[in-house]
Amino acid sequence: MWVRVARALRALRRAALLLPLALTALALLLLPRPPPLAPSPRSPSAPAPLREEPHVQVQQNVITEPDYVAGHEDESTHLPWFMRGGDRRPAQHEPEAKLFPEDAPGDDRVVQQLMYTLPKNEKVPIKKILLANGFGAWGVAAGRTEFVRNKCPVDRCTLSADTRDAATADAILYKDHHTPFNVKRPLTQIWILYYLECPYHTASLRPSSVDVFNWTSTYRRDSDIVAPYERWVYYDALVTEKDLDRNYAANKTKKVAWFVSNCHARNRRLQYARQLSKHIQVDIYGACGSHHCPRTDPNCLEMLDRDYKFYLAFENSNCRDYVTEKFFVNGLQHNVLPIVMGAQASEYAAVAPHNSYVHVEEFASPEELASYLKRLDEDDNLYNSYFKWKGTGEFINTYFFCRVCAMVHANERRQRSAHYGDVQAWWRDGACTRAEWRTTQRDTRDNG
Ligand SMILES: *[C@@H]1O[C@H](CO)[C@@H](O)[C@H](O)[C@H]1NC(C)=O
Ligand SMILES: *[C@@H]1O[C@H](CO)[C@@H](O)[C@H](O)[C@H]1NC(C)=O
Repeated sequence: MWVRVARALRALRRAALLLPLALTALALLLLPRPPPLAPSPRSPSAPAPLREEPHVQVQQNVITEPDYVAGHEDESTHLPWFMRGGDRRPAQHEPEAKLFPEDAPGDDRVVQQLMYTLPKNEKVPIKKILLANGFGAWGVAAGRTEFVRNKCPVDRCTLSADTRDAATADAILYKDHHTPFNVKRPLTQIWILYYLECPYHTASLRPSSVDVFNWTSTYRRDSDIVAPYERWVYYDALVTEKDLDRNYAANKTKKVAWFVSNCHARNRRLQYARQLSKHIQVDIYGACGSHHCPRTDPNCLEMLDRDYKFYLAFENSNCRDYVTEKFFVNGLQHNVLPIVMGAQASEYAAVAPHNSYVHVEEFASPEELASYLKRLDEDDNLYNSYFKWKGTGEFINTYFFCRVCAMVHANERRQRSAHYGDVQAWWRDGACTRAEWRTTQRDTRDNG
């Protein structure tokens, strides 16, 4: 009897020990895909004239691309795989997909790249991508993990950081710098130059390196593989606003906030903020102002939600398409209206949710901006009109390496060949200005 009880107890204990394991295994089986381990390499957005780019794009896809409409009863309720809860994956290979800059000038093609897949019935060889700066620079592991873990629609790639692969890799990704490997370059090998920062904050390449790159990957929308800081996608391209269920002005007692540490930005944003503060309350937090709130304290950003009506999302440089997390995260992801300075107004319009910000260059002077802000401060309806985009979409993970893999395969299928004759000129000429955009002539723009 006791023996039996003891045995039963042992069995129970064993079961209890195994249960978490079993549950983990089950969870692994059931989970659609693990969340990204590290923030994916931030990517920029596309540079196009005044239009709601994600819109137009997605809409076209819904209407014209057979793999988007075929099959299911209620396709419209299925979000694409790269959105939260999404399960819609590309159904078939589209040889004409708009993946490369020349396919869709002015468009970042991020969604099309994520929805590209290879023919199902072909045996596709694995492409080797060499990371010239090592794995640490990217937060990824060797091999196919990155592609398989993320369930990339095109996952026939492997990552290497072994310099002995330089002669055989299908593509080499260089981050910020270019140090050539001492081996003969195969004709089909694709060299990619990646920049995270804007031209003022990237080092110049050696003259011998300016004409060796096939592709670029930067936040610029005319890069081959656009890597935006954040990418907004609507759930439904036709629905860009919603009725509000709250008053975003409620309980706010303060006007303009700004968190800033670099007081000597090239675009003279501090001078602008000081001018603005002559006409409306501007609380400057950090080294350049009199208010203090440590960066690491989450209450600082909560303060934006609770107390402030406006936030100065001023970039440190006025460069083409240069829109960073200062806008997307500090601004848009809080309940505060971002006032923006950095890229041109039309470039913000192309990447921001509909009616979600105010651009300083919409106003002739800081004083005029201040009077508009005062008007918004007094008119809750007008103020709230800038928050109707909330809940109509989300900032997606742009799965950078999924797209690199898709592009390397697509390039070969198309027998496409491309190269930058002078990648430094492409990156720098006319890209930035120390003045306002509206007073800047092309030929006087800053070369860095
Ligand atoms: C404003 O304050 C009131 C009272 O503290 C609170 O009930 C309400 O939720 C607040 N509104 C917002 C939008 O935070
Ligand atoms: C890559 O660029 C080189 C010149 O730098 C060129 O010779 C080669 O054909 C290009 N390859 C592809 C695949 O575009």
